[in-house]
Amino acid sequence: MASTATEDVLDRIDHERDGYLEELKSYLRIPSISTEPQYKGEVRQAAEFLRDRMSDAGVRSELVASPTGGNPLVYGEWTGAAGKPTVLFYGHYDVQPVDPVEEWRHDPFEPTLEGDDLVCRGATDDKGQSYTHVKAVGAMLAERGALPVNVKFLVEGEEESGGEGIEAYVRADGGRRLACDCVVISDTSMYARGEPAMLYGLKGLCYMELRVQGPNRDLHSGTFGGSVQNPLNALAHILSSLHDAETGRILVPGFYDRVRPLEAWEREAWAALPFDEEAHRRELAVPALFGEQGYTTRERTWGRPTCDVNGLWGGYQGEGEKTVLPAKAGAKVSMRLVADQDPKEIAELFRRHIEAVTPDGVSVEVRYRHGAVPTLIEPAGAAMDAAKAAMQDVWGAEPVMIREGGSIPIVGTFAEVLDRPVLMMGFGLPDDGLHSPNEKFDVGCFHGGIKTVARFLDRLGEAG
Ligand code: BES
Ligand code: MN
Ligand code: MN
Repeated sequence: MASTATEDVLDRIDHERDGYLEELKSYLRIPSISTEPQYKGEVRQAAEFLRDRMSDAGVRSELVASPTGGNPLVYGEWTGAAGKPTVLFYGHYDVQPVDPVEEWRHDPFEPTLEGDDLVCRGATDDKGQSYTHVKAVGAMLAERGALPVNVKFLVEGEEESGGEGIEAYVRADGGRRLACDCVVISDTSMYARGEPAMLYGLKGLCYMELRVQGPNRDLHSGTFGGSVQNPLNALAHILSSLHDAETGRILVPGFYDRVRPLEAWEREAWAALPFDEEAHRRELAVPALFGEQGYTTRERTWGRPTCDVNGLWGGYQGEGEKTVLPAKAGAKVSMRLVADQDPKEIAELFRRHIEAVTPDGVSVEVRYRHGAVPTLIEPAGAAMDAAKAAMQDVWGAEPVMIREGGSIPIVGTFAEVLDRPVLMMGFGLPDDGLHSPNEKFDVGCFHGGIKTVARFLDRLGEAG
């Protein structure tokens, strides 16, 4: 159905374009880094800013204390559309740290326009993207005094720090206050500029830490070498046992047992999407791309599990030489999971494997730090149809169905507890550089994102 019902609101969004952008800049200026405790005050300030702008938009909003003592949740609702569906918007107002800070072209928290790129930490991940929900709802309420559907908002401040607050909140709520017909998230990317996408799969995560303990103190490697196992040698052996270096397969026994194979339609659809492996290789300046044998790069990043050492320490790191036999060594290792792998079960398999391959003469401690279940949704249903149609309306192209390699931990909990479709309507671009220096958000994506959300609400209102 070719509907023009949203024209009034779209015009307003056009007229208010600059004002919305200025508002976003004020939000971005607040350094809400959740991974560093010294920003606690700023994190709260960002939550308050968001709550106040949501209230200004006409959404009854409040801060909800985190049930686990962490950063507050921002909750809001407008429920004046009796008998109509309810949309729950999720986003996160916390951001990543800025280091390496010297690589930024400007102050990381001074939003700066470079052409159409708004450069700032949090621009795309996720303040800019999730602010499209607030502005779309605000524009509609300002224009019409009502919405075509009911809306709720739940925005967290611990997404980047693996915080457990929202997890506990959603489980305790059990779908009462959060009852809805679908969840909408904008924290992912479009396929390319002007090519919208709906995301139907995210990876899960199992994040582990290893601590290898040898002798009770650092030793002279001449006097003691040959008498004790070196924890760093042992750790190198352990880590090298995780992969087959040639095929890229993960060697933890049982690791692949629950992996849902890629479906024929996905492999076909992904192969048809333009992706230049050679350009990708050149852009990353590596001599060759690498990953699990038997799969394309796209298949590996979107649909196959991976295992990576994220950090490694031990021994002498200074300049020059020190003939030391270190007392201890450690590593952080994380595995990105796909449906139907379970983070806790993978952690157990990992622990067993590590214990089995640890050489004699050292002890090893294997810690599970945090995890997220993988998401794979059925890309169908009324809400999905409304979302696809809204994307088509605004971007003039049918969205492609994609998966990505990132994780949004709460998505699995939403799917489980609320038992409703989760729509991942991303407005970022693949080169936004989330988590990197000079992260940016395209102002056209911000503007188009607001329009897409407004169109989606009207489409959903017409359907239900
Ligand atoms: N927005 C990202 C997730 C994402 C990244 C989705 C790329 C799709 C493509 C999110 O803010 C994020 O960074 N998640 C973390 C989760 C972790 C801290 C548990 C991730 O994926 O590393
Ligand atoms: Mn994010
Ligand atoms: Mn992130």
